[in-house]
Amino acid sequence: MRRLIYPLILALLPGIAAASGLTAERKAELVHLLRQDCGACHGMTLKGGLGKPLLPEYLENKPQETLKATILYGRAGTPMPPWKGLLTEQEADYLARILKKGVPDAR
Ligand code: HEC
Repeated sequence: MRRLIYPLILALLPGIAAASGLTAERKAELVHLLRQDCGACHGMTLKGGLGKPLLPEYLENKPQETLKATILYGRAGTPMPPWKGLLTEQEADYLARILKKGVPDAR
């Protein structure tokens, strides 16, 4: 039984690491980026400006995948730029997730 389970755990580990694989340092950088770069349009406190408000109450009904795609690819015909040159898919996913939950001390 053990012989079967160990390789299985090993095979699953990279997936588990990928799910929460951002270091605390990278997460802090991403929150900084959110305030500075995203904040330039969405407001420092994310209440909106040129860009829409990015507070949880505005995003709760929007699918995680849509928000992630908006961050990665931007929205054609609007000033929302694509970030895929700067952010990985995993990082965009993280940003979309914390926006839905509320960015740590963003308000
Ligand atoms: C140059 C200005 C600008 C910058 C910089 C910018 N955005 Fe946007 N963003 C917009 C605009 C404008 C919209 C609204 C697009 C529309 O009308 O659908 C938007 C829309 C969005 C949406 C969709 C909101 C919704 O309600 O559907 C998300 C999520 C988002 N931006 C996240 C980000 C993140 C994260 C960053 C930084 C990595 C960022 N934006 C940087 C202008 C900007």
